[in-house]
Amino acid sequence: MKPEILLIEPMMPEVEKQLDAAYTVHRFTSVEQLEAIAPNIRAIATGGATGVPAPIMNSLPALEIIAINGIGTDAVDLKEARRRHIHVTTTPGVLTDDVADMALGLILSLLRGLPESDRYVRDGAWGHSPAPALGHKVTGKKLGIIGMGQVGRAIARRAQAFSMPISYTDLKDFGLDEYHFVPDLKALALESEILVIAASGGPGSRHLVNRDILDAVGTHGVVVNVARGSVVDEQALVQALEEGTLGGAALDVFEHEPNVPTALMHSNRTVLQPHRASATVETRLEMGNLVVRNLAAHFAGQALLTAVI
Ligand code: 8YV
Repeated sequence: MKPEILLIEPMMPEVEKQLDAAYTVHRFTSVEQLEAIAPNIRAIATGGATGVPAPIMNSLPALEIIAINGIGTDAVDLKEARRRHIHVTTTPGVLTDDVADMALGLILSLLRGLPESDRYVRDGAWGHSPAPALGHKVTGKKLGIIGMGQVGRAIARRAQAFSMPISYTDLKDFGLDEYHFVPDLKALALESEILVIAASGGPGSRHLVNRDILDAVGTHGVVVNVARGSVVDEQALVQALEEGTLGGAALDVFEHEPNVPTALMHSNRTVLQPHRASATVETRLEMGNLVVRNLAAHFAGQALLTAVI
């Protein structure tokens, strides 16, 4: 008999096909739906931001493994997983480039006003209405990175091609030759023209970027977030943008996805994406394959490929 698994967040058809071939896959609809099948579910496949809500985890007594299709573990209760000896895997490495590409894309979009100019052309305004406002130069801007893990470093490498002086903050100095370590976040914000967030989510980084930090970035600075919405105090961000104390924000992630504050939607100082940093055909396939391989390893009694627990 095939093991039974719960798929909480849809994956690519190619990936789901592999899951369907190896398992009886229950696609999550509601906690009520789980009642009848809960005792049989041995694995969960889910997304990084979706994770596993507590009521689901609590209702699955036979759960052995949670395979996250992403790198964030903040939406899974790792303490509880450890207590129940449930394995947790992620998909590190394969999405690094895409997330870094998105960070650069957001920087370029925001500073050069690409969405606004695109709308101008589409709306047929070219030749009829005044041209969009001039953008801002990207090359040479001072970049500050919060979180110098794989993604932070991939952003830094790309930023070097734009001749940006690069500083970063993290829990420790990684001794990286080309990048300047700044232990204090506010000091980093004060010296940065572009402050990019590439830190993990979770309680440790919640609202790290608060009003004080946003004010330190200042009127001529911008904030870019490709990590987790929880790292930024979103209300403070809205206020800073409304009051004009922050130059702009380019965001792929939000505090209460898929809800985005209307003020951010209406602001002409924002560029917004619906959590798309790893959303490419190539990368989602690699991520999905890693989910499939981790589950296969688990059920074959082999070592997990990319285990967190
Ligand atoms: C994905 C993510 O969008 O890696 C993560 O933690 O949040 C993103 O890469 C997500 O996991 C897919 O649902």
